[in-house]
Amino acid sequence: MSGAGVSEVTVRVPMNIALVKYWGKRDEQLILPLNDSISLTVDKLTAETTVRMIQGVGENTVEINGRRVELSSNKRYQTVFDEALRLQRKRKEDSNQNETECISHHFEVISKTNFPVAAGLASSAAGFAAIGRAIQKILNLNDTQANRLARIGSGSACRSMFGGLVHWKKGEKEDGSDCVAVRADSENWKDLYCIILVFDDERKKVGSSEGMRRTRETSTLLKHRIESVVPERIEQVKKAYESRNFQDLARVIMADSNQFHAVCLDSVPPIRYLNESSWRLIEVVEKFNQQEVKAAYTFDAGPNACVIVQKDDVPAFIKAALQDISIPSEDLKSVEEDLNVSFEGPLNS
Ligand code: DP6
Repeated sequence: MSGAGVSEVTVRVPMNIALVKYWGKRDEQLILPLNDSISLTVDKLTAETTVRMIQGVGENTVEINGRRVELSSNKRYQTVFDEALRLQRKRKEDSNQNETECISHHFEVISKTNFPVAAGLASSAAGFAAIGRAIQKILNLNDTQANRLARIGSGSACRSMFGGLVHWKKGEKEDGSDCVAVRADSENWKDLYCIILVFDDERKKVGSSEGMRRTRETSTLLKHRIESVVPERIEQVKKAYESRNFQDLARVIMADSNQFHAVCLDSVPPIRYLNESSWRLIEVVEKFNQQEVKAAYTFDAGPNACVIVQKDDVPAFIKAALQDISIPSEDLKSVEEDLNVSFEGPLNS
């Protein structure tokens, strides 16, 4: 939609969950990672975002879930807006448009997520990916430029620009031109479900940027991970996904989550993201997988779990989890409705 001097676009973009984690930057300004990562896009958890690009001098504003974001302490938004304006100028120069006057612009962003923000659930990924997509539409940018806009907002955001399995390549170049996310599957694995267990919706104590810096500067295990572990795991994930081999996929996902938390513990001072509930969930999954691997846990920079299971195994997993973990009854009801199943016995509340 456009009015006099205002361009407005609304998009809805999903979050993603990393199966092989990104942890550590080779360039903090451009957000270039030390290693490749690969993720699954979680369709149902989204950020609906409206971006307005308004002609004239004015203050940039960002509102997330009804709350105004303090931009002086969240510099990433300004970086994204500056880059958008740079790309716009470049496009005009490239098309030889004779701009005698310099027109200034400012941005308004209004975003609503349908899941908790900053609880280690990659909410910034969906948010910045949505801003990148919306600005792409307003300025008619190509996919690589939109990818870059999302990435300089939050690294993992560039993986939310596509559905399915997404491979974010670290690239080698200093300007980041070969650091892009690309779709890595030929067809979506529709049966994969992601059960999110929120044990703590507080903002994490050590943010990703600070945590990554600390690990990069102090962990000896990180070097081994980047050079000898991650490249092989990326290939294993792609192969298992393509051949629909759930057991192989699940084993890599859990191993990589564990190694990510191991490099956090290997940092000085150590970073501990998992709590008692996270460990209880790990035990639940281990027990559930005793006969056959049918569930995979993964944790980002926080205690909340994402458990990946195939659709048919969702009810059995939830029943198993209920023996040790309390799940709010309204959440159980929504699963019952979604999958047309019922959980017997008294529900936890
Ligand atoms: C543990 O993308 O939030 O979730 O680039 O500093 O914004 P910044 O970090 P962010 O880090 C995500 C880290 C992770 C793993 C992952 O998503 O790959």
